[in-house]
Amino acid sequence: MSDKDTYQANPERYNQKMEYNRCGKSGLLLPRLSLGLWHNFGDVDDQKEALNMLKYAFDNGITHFDLANNYGTPFGSAEKNFGKMLRKHFSEYRDEMVISTKAGHLMWPGPYGDGGSRKYLISSLDQSLSRMKLDYVDIFYSHRYDANTPIEETMGALSDMVKQGKALYVGISKYPEDKALEAYKLLKENGTPCLIHQGRYSIFSRDIETDTLPALEENGVGFIGFSPLAQGLLSDKYLNGIPENSRAGQAHGFLKKEQVSDEMINRVRKLNDIAQRRGQSLAQMAVAWCFHKPEVTSVIIGASSTMQLKDNIDALKNTTFTDSELWEIGEV
Ligand SMILES: NC(=O)c1ccc[n+]([C@@H]2O[C@H](COP(=O)([O-])OP(=O)(O)OC[C@H]3O[C@@H](n4cnc5c(N)ncnc54)[C@H](OP(=O)(O)O)[C@@H]3O)[C@@H](O)[C@H]2O)c1
Repeated sequence: MSDKDTYQANPERYNQKMEYNRCGKSGLLLPRLSLGLWHNFGDVDDQKEALNMLKYAFDNGITHFDLANNYGTPFGSAEKNFGKMLRKHFSEYRDEMVISTKAGHLMWPGPYGDGGSRKYLISSLDQSLSRMKLDYVDIFYSHRYDANTPIEETMGALSDMVKQGKALYVGISKYPEDKALEAYKLLKENGTPCLIHQGRYSIFSRDIETDTLPALEENGVGFIGFSPLAQGLLSDKYLNGIPENSRAGQAHGFLKKEQVSDEMINRVRKLNDIAQRRGQSLAQMAVAWCFHKPEVTSVIIGASSTMQLKDNIDALKNTTFTDSELWEIGEV
């Protein structure tokens, strides 16, 4: 019998700890935790563990999977591998899943494989659909603002994807405040409101608190944070050096060894003490902390093992912080 016949999703997946938040003023609910496939799902990664993580996530109520055209090493391999797993194991659950992809960073050589042009975004979505063997994605994002393309062109391309049925919703990622406001306005005028803004958010990266969150409610847009562990720095794994199998220890990881500086580790050590007092691992505290802002619809976690995924999902058991804990974390 093939695996296709043996995987049955956990019947209790919606009766456990996962909560679902409405995304902006839309009808779409997103799980508090979403799973990101930037690392750990490429051709260089362990496919068996990748599949185990997908199953574990889905079995625990994670319904949202975040991809981009260039995720995985080499580029595109995360979408290709995810698509394979989807067809083999999750085909009957497609309508229970929200699958996102993006384009905006370098994907292919020449003048049309980077940025925010209509030419790039529309052909990239076609490629993503073909790699994942899907008819549509649930959310398509402009992965970053491109100052060299008129914003009307980028937003027009997003709106047309929705009108063509290739994306159900659209979002933007890492747009500066003034450009985000223009994007919300244009997308609304086009009849395809912006669903969501995706931005970096962690104890170490708080810019969005002042430049993205304040305008969301008025515009009916949700917020999803990425890299809540600062790529793993906000865990106890680097306290005694750089493990070989960690993101900073691997040549294809985006976390560079230089980022694991003594100054950084001193801060991590102080945060680790606070987490211990709360009875959480530092990774759990870092994920839970993101929810102290009510504007946060969901947080995209990454994981290189099912154990890490479990650890991070357990963060939801305690997302309450006292004012003095928040102050202490802020001081670090
Ligand atoms: N829009 C954008 O531009 C953008 C940019 C970046 C990311 N994203 C999205 O956000 C997602 C998450 O980003 P991220 O992977 O950087 O998130 P992250 O949660 O900050 O880091 C995840 C990494 O931290 C380590 N880790 C996770 N849980 C751990 C635990 N419990 N204990 C110890 N270490 C743990 C693992 O790395 P090791 O390999 O060291 O074990 C894991 O791969 C991406 O997959 C992507 O979907 C979007």
